[in-house]
This record gives sequence, C-alpha cells and structure tokens, in this order.
Amino acid sequence: MLSDASGRKIEYLRLSLTSECPLRCIYCRPGPAGERPQDDHPLRPVEIESLVRYLAERHGLHKVRLTGGDPTSRPDLTEIIERIAAIPGIHDLSMTTHGLTLARKAREYKKAGLHRVNVSLDTLDVKQFQRITGSDGLECVLAGIHAAQEFALHPVRINTVVVRGENDDQLVALLQFAARHILEIRFIELMPMGPLAASWHDRAVSESQMRERLAPIVQSWHALPRKSDSAQRYRVILDDGTMVCVGFISAMTGCFCEDCNRIRVTSDGSIYPCLMDRPRGNLMSALRPRFEPDQLEAALATALSGKQLRHPAAGVAVMTQIGG
Ligand code: 5AD
Repeated sequence: MLSDASGRKIEYLRLSLTSECPLRCIYCRPGPAGERPQDDHPLRPVEIESLVRYLAERHGLHKVRLTGGDPTSRPDLTEIIERIAAIPGIHDLSMTTHGLTLARKAREYKKAGLHRVNVSLDTLDVKQFQRITGSDGLECVLAGIHAAQEFALHPVRINTVVVRGENDDQLVALLQFAARHILEIRFIELMPMGPLAASWHDRAVSESQMRERLAPIVQSWHALPRKSDSAQRYRVILDDGTMVCVGFISAMTGCFCEDCNRIRVTSDGSIYPCLMDRPRGNLMSALRPRFEPDQLEAALATALSGKQLRHPAAGVAVMTQIGG
C-alpha cells in the first residue's frame, strides 16, 4: 500500500486523460491558446494500463477515476476503459464528464467496463447553462444523464459547482430534479482556482448557505457515514415525502484533507499530490519508452513526500489540466 509522509494511505488514482474540453465553464475555462498546456503526446492506453496494473498489483490501488479536461475528448477513451477495467483489483472505475457524449456512448462505455459516471450539471435553465458553459448542450446533457441511468452506469451522480449570481437560484430545482430521477447530487463549493480565483470571495457559496437555501423544501437531514469520501452526504426527505441523497463538497469551509486517500496524474505524466498544489514530479520517463518500475517508485516517493497535510489556501493548478 502506498502511503504519504503523514501516514495517509493512497488507494485512489484520479487520472486526467486530456486537458481538452469543448465547454468553457466560467470557473474552469482554459486561458488563451498560447497559455494552455500542450497535450502533444498524452499517456497512451498501454502506458496507462502498465501504471494502473502495477499500482493495483504492488500497492493495492482499487479505485480509479477518469477526469480531464473531459475524458470524452480522448478518441481512445473506450480502449483506455477496457484496459483498466480488465485489471484485477480495480473494483471502482468511474469517470467525471460534461455528459455531452453519454446519450450516444453510455452503452459503449458500460460494455467496455466503466462502472459509473459523475456528470457536471450546474443548472436546469437553458439560458443559464449557455452563460455558464458557453454551450447550448443542456438538452444533450439531460439525455446523457438518462442514458447513463438506462445503461446502469450507477449510481449516476450530478456535480454542481455553486457560483453566487450565476446558479445559486437553482439549488432547489436541482435537488427536486435529483429526487425525481433517483440521482445523487453533490453541491460543490467554488474553489479559489481558475478564472474565478480573484473574485472567489464574492462568488463562493458555503455549504451552510446552500443548506439554508434548501431548507424550505427539506423535511429532514440524515448525515451518512463519511469514510474517505470528499463529500459529506445526507439522506434527505423532501417536503413532498420523496427521498434523495445529497452531498456537499466543502473543500473551503470543511477541509477533508486528513482523510485524503488520492493521488492525481495528468496526461503529461505530472503527479499532483494535491488538487490545489503544484505537480511534484513526473512519471512519464518511468512509462516511456518502456515501463521502469524503479523509476516509477522513485517518482511516487518524491511526490508523496511532498503531499501536504492540508491543501494550500489557493490553488495553483487549473481544473482543465487536473480535472477536480
Ligand atoms: N471550484 C470547484 N469545482 C470546480 N470544478 C471545476 N472548477 C472548479 C472550481 N474552481 C469542478 C467541475 C467538475 C469537477 C471535475 O470539478 O465542475 O464537476
């Protein structure tokens, strides 16, 4: 088992497959072309397989999430899923996506071995969706969510980043939507990274403010055990008697670093010990031109020795590279 300098066990790999994404979300859009990281020779499916297989066999890795950018921007995504899904010991393989391809591809991803998806959905209002993401894809995302449910990529979760003045009027509608469609929803506190970092103080909505907004339609909150989940989850009974699971990812008002069990690797091989920290090392030369376990161990050891006990106050990475 991998562990860091403070003894936290690392059993969860978040793998950013690309920094590409067709959306331009206000809190996550990449800078102008020249400032964007180059994704010239991203980790190949076989290299990804070697990495994950080694970590699973040698270090008991059992959970992998594919992120981006958006993983669906990779033309070889299905092959990557197949290769990871076939590795013994990986019993949770998930993906975070904008959902735009799911209506067409959910069946294919499921067949390749993907277990479940988290879909980003910040609003149910067409105009707001356009304003936040720069895209007209709301209907497509909704169809994608339903396709994911149809093809059993479950539990299908909705991720909602809450931004004051943009979608903080949508909390009630989104929770009711989740209840109606038997989805789990997670409201995410805006983090001070990316394009809204400078206006974070004015734009962030805290978990307690979110719960206040939801109070009028909530009959009861029942907190669920947390384990090493980044979300505090509740089973909620709504005023109409329906039940729904809601989580809050409160990285800013409720730091969960002490339970952090994850490490992040991006498509250029950078290793990020923390979402909000800079990369601490690169494992590309351990995977290319051929797999070199000793080099991989050395790169991991360096990265994990730099894993801070608590995340820095503001993020230096951008989500388009590291994928949440
Ligand atoms: N703060 C919080 N969440 C963010 N995401 C992207 N940028 C931010 C930010 N500044 C979210 C996306 C997605 C997940 C991968 O990270 O909306 O749900």
